[in-house]
Amino acid sequence: MIISVDLGQRSYDVALDHGARHRLSNLIGDRSPRAQAVAIVTSDSLARMPWFDLESGLAQHVLIVPEGESAKTLNTLESLVEQLAALELSRSDVVVGVGGGAITDLAGFAAAVYLRGVDLVQIPTSLVGQVDAALGGKTAVNLQAGKNLVGAFHQPIGVLCDYDTLETLPERERLGGLGEVAKCWLLEGGYAAELAQTSLHDLIVMSVRLKASIVSLDEREGGRRALLNYGHTLAHALEKVSLARDVDEMRHGEAVAIGLAFAIRLARSLERVGDSEVERHDEVLEALGLRAKVPRHYPTSTLLEAMGHDKKAHHDLTFVLAGAEGFDVVRGIDRDLVGRTLDEFRGEQ
Ligand code: GLY
Repeated sequence: MIISVDLGQRSYDVALDHGARHRLSNLIGDRSPRAQAVAIVTSDSLARMPWFDLESGLAQHVLIVPEGESAKTLNTLESLVEQLAALELSRSDVVVGVGGGAITDLAGFAAAVYLRGVDLVQIPTSLVGQVDAALGGKTAVNLQAGKNLVGAFHQPIGVLCDYDTLETLPERERLGGLGEVAKCWLLEGGYAAELAQTSLHDLIVMSVRLKASIVSLDEREGGRRALLNYGHTLAHALEKVSLARDVDEMRHGEAVAIGLAFAIRLARSLERVGDSEVERHDEVLEALGLRAKVPRHYPTSTLLEAMGHDKKAHHDLTFVLAGAEGFDVVRGIDRDLVGRTLDEFRGEQ
């Protein structure tokens, strides 16, 4: 299955299949024909997976970075670009990100800034990476002040979503990815009952189709792309608080699942939707096995403070919310109402 992201001269294909990784050499030959070397950015454990048999047909270097969110720091970025320079990777060579959303975000940002930009191929190996992080060209690292606060838009020349890599995925990673799948399913108006007849591969294709169509219309998030941040205002606050405590306490997709359950309650508090939409959300999250509860040790006041510092907050609280006409970005939401709705949400648990 091939899904295209249509961005004029910077258009590219997302290939989804078992064995999609074996397209690497052809992809580079077609899209980056002057390349003589590739730098594959991955983690130590992924480099030892049975499917890590990548063949670019060029001089190939494997650069190891830390696992998970701890990869997304300015220090790791500095070390990575120093390694690219030490390898004398040239302007016509290629960076290949192989890993989950954190590694592809880091590899993408390194490709965006090294020599003011080199070609990038993303091979996302996690569900979150395949359905969201690796396509669309957003790349970034985190700051103490919040997630993804330093980054760049840098579109890949191709994305290879190899289903083989999902077979070695730990259960927690799989569930985390389903948080982003739930976001797409809910944005598409899907119900829990239909999920029973939908395979994981179909869910991945649905998510990639949605994202590719939105990015094709609004690459730089001037409008519609912001809908892909559904559930993310609270999710980013939860992740920010969790990162300050323990880097692995809450994964992105886990936080998104909580953020989705909260966003629909906030929409109901604002009388944009009724109980049936809240039920639709809860049933979809439950059918996907997602636990959408705000942990007790994340106080409402701390989360409100963290939401205010989200880069999408525009100095007041901004949420993507469901409404009678579909989903909208709603700005200037009263903090007290958000706090009260959060407390009520906790009270349900
Ligand atoms: N993850 C949301 C976006 O790429 O726009």
